[in-house]
Amino acid sequence: MAIKTVLRMGDPILLMKAAPVEQFDTPELHDLIQNLEDTMLHMNGAGIAAPQIGESVRVVIFGQKDSDERINPRYPDADVVPYTVLINPTLTPVGSEIEKDWEGCLSVPGMRGIVPRHTRLHYKGFDQYGNRIDRLVSGFHARVVQHECDHLDGILYPMRIPDLKDFGYTDVFFPNQDIQDD
Ligand code: NI
Repeated sequence: MAIKTVLRMGDPILLMKAAPVEQFDTPELHDLIQNLEDTMLHMNGAGIAAPQIGESVRVVIFGQKDSDERINPRYPDADVVPYTVLINPTLTPVGSEIEKDWEGCLSVPGMRGIVPRHTRLHYKGFDQYGNRIDRLVSGFHARVVQHECDHLDGILYPMRIPDLKDFGYTDVFFPNQDIQDD
């Protein structure tokens, strides 16, 4: 399909609460998911949410399709997260443990910040065919899901940074590392 322009922080669409998907397995939904996938792969994202390409619906995709060959250059040390299409998600933290780690976002290019997230997470939703997804995850997988699903409620990760001293330019925080500029 197509690589889409990713909306950047400041665009009001990124601040909207996205609408639930009402019908699964439609040509429109399959087109949207293909566009999300093409755009995520092109930009080496760990995940992407539909509002980031201007579609305010509750659809996110994340993870890696071929985990052996597609180690993400932006997150080379991250645990491998399976490629997932997640629609109309519900997230429930498991336990009270919180973990802080660096995040970036395709809508906030060239920057990184330290964000606290729940370490363990139970998430549910549907794939593009309407099949149920129900998973218990932790660590990087849990972080990615929380980040992407925040996009569906109009929340960008800088809004979650408790101390803005932990927010800045990637090449300033990591001067000797070849981390892509998003
Ligand atoms: Ni993001």
